[in-house]
Amino acid sequence: MPATIVVGSQWGDEGKGKVIDWLAEDADLVARYAGGDNAGHTVTVAGERYALHLVPSGILYRDKLCLMGGGMVINPASLLKEMRDLEAHGVDISSARLKISSSAHLILPYHIALDGVQESGRGADAIGTTKRGIGPAYADKSARVGIRAGAMRDPEEFSEKVYRAVEQKNRILTQLYGQPALEAKVIAAEFHDYARTLAPYIADVSLIVNQAMEADKRLLCEGAQGTLLDLDHGTYPFVTSSAPTVGGALAGLGFGPRYVDRVVGLVKAYTTRVGAGPFVTELLGEEGDRLRGTGADPWDEFGTTTGRPRRCGWLDAVVIRYAARVNGFTHLALTKLDILSSFDVLKIAVAYEYQGERLEHLPPDSEILAACQPIFEEMPGWSEDIRGASTLEDLPLAARQYVKRIEELVGVPIMVIGVGPGREQTIIR
Ligand code: GDP
Ligand code: IMO
Ligand code: MG
Repeated sequence: MPATIVVGSQWGDEGKGKVIDWLAEDADLVARYAGGDNAGHTVTVAGERYALHLVPSGILYRDKLCLMGGGMVINPASLLKEMRDLEAHGVDISSARLKISSSAHLILPYHIALDGVQESGRGADAIGTTKRGIGPAYADKSARVGIRAGAMRDPEEFSEKVYRAVEQKNRILTQLYGQPALEAKVIAAEFHDYARTLAPYIADVSLIVNQAMEADKRLLCEGAQGTLLDLDHGTYPFVTSSAPTVGGALAGLGFGPRYVDRVVGLVKAYTTRVGAGPFVTELLGEEGDRLRGTGADPWDEFGTTTGRPRRCGWLDAVVIRYAARVNGFTHLALTKLDILSSFDVLKIAVAYEYQGERLEHLPPDSEILAACQPIFEEMPGWSEDIRGASTLEDLPLAARQYVKRIEELVGVPIMVIGVGPGREQTIIR
């Protein structure tokens, strides 16, 4: 069966970009299904590093059709910038290779302005969003007042639509939030130009996906964010506004589960989170700093999109078990195992303690989760540099035991292990 869905199992930045690039080799189509330019997917090919925010990671191969699904929210200015950057690197981004779903929603400047004022209005309860306008754009989608990519097919009418929408949102920005009004005319003119450039890329993505699978082509669904950032299944309200979980792939691309044969959960060998919200295994001291790195290496834990330092902590098997349940993972992909080299002792949270009781399952309420303490299991670390390992046997015994223990704790086999950012730094099982 033809479809593989890749889902982040933690709070994003699990290394999806790298693994999707690796899996894409065997795919005919690569499709992003949710989120917007809040995502930052890093792919390193032949020493060259690409940070993709909207365009599917399959674009770096010459022969893959890349699709941006209806579950996405797209800022046309960011998309065009990304397309130009890719083009400057010699990547073909023609409309023969890249398609945008006509039902994807667009992010307009007022979404970004609203994201900013709403975040500052939350004060100490701020979510720590990427301020890319994601929440307000999905809110408009749900309120049925959004503007969809398909509207760009007619740039004149589209630009009038944009003008009216900016005028309307200006009332909210000025009267409710005391913000300056946005320049509706200027924005309408800019969006007119975006529409002229992007109109050829608009397509019926659900039709393309279904026809391809009928023809036995292989589809790789690229997740963004992670399960714990899911609007329904994440640590609400410290979540994003889309569905990064497995159902989001079906809804966001418009195809049915009968085509799915693999659901791959991406697991970083430890845990990170950007932004606010509960994080049971967080390390606030020296060990957290060690996991984060100084920022000197490109894989250090600083946001691909915002550059913010990521919060770091030990691996949380309760989180991964929860993600495996919510998504029905058939396989796991373990990333960044190399970063754990040189710790004497490694810890994995196997359960939580809450008000004197042991919890085996992640509580769905953030308030309860925030009050949980981790119950750790300790494992011996290893000191060898494993970045050159190409088979499981190349790994030190302690690293192999760590991998095996994750499989036992989650109950899902690990199909691939990342030992470095490069395509070739991958152990296949
Ligand atoms: P994504 O959002 O899930 O695609 O992940 P990001 O790209 O935001 O962050 C992952 C970072 O880790 C990037 O800098 C990747 O190049 C890097 N990376 C991915 N896999 C590995 C790995 O196995 N080892 C190391 N050292 N770096 C990795
Ligand atoms: P990738 O695809 C990590 C986080 C933000 C914030 C919360 C809400 O690279 O894994 P938003 O701007 O979406 O309203 O912010 O979600 N967040 C991510 N964290 N990786 C991401 O994407 C993220 N996308 C959103 O930091 O806490
Ligand atoms: Mg990222």
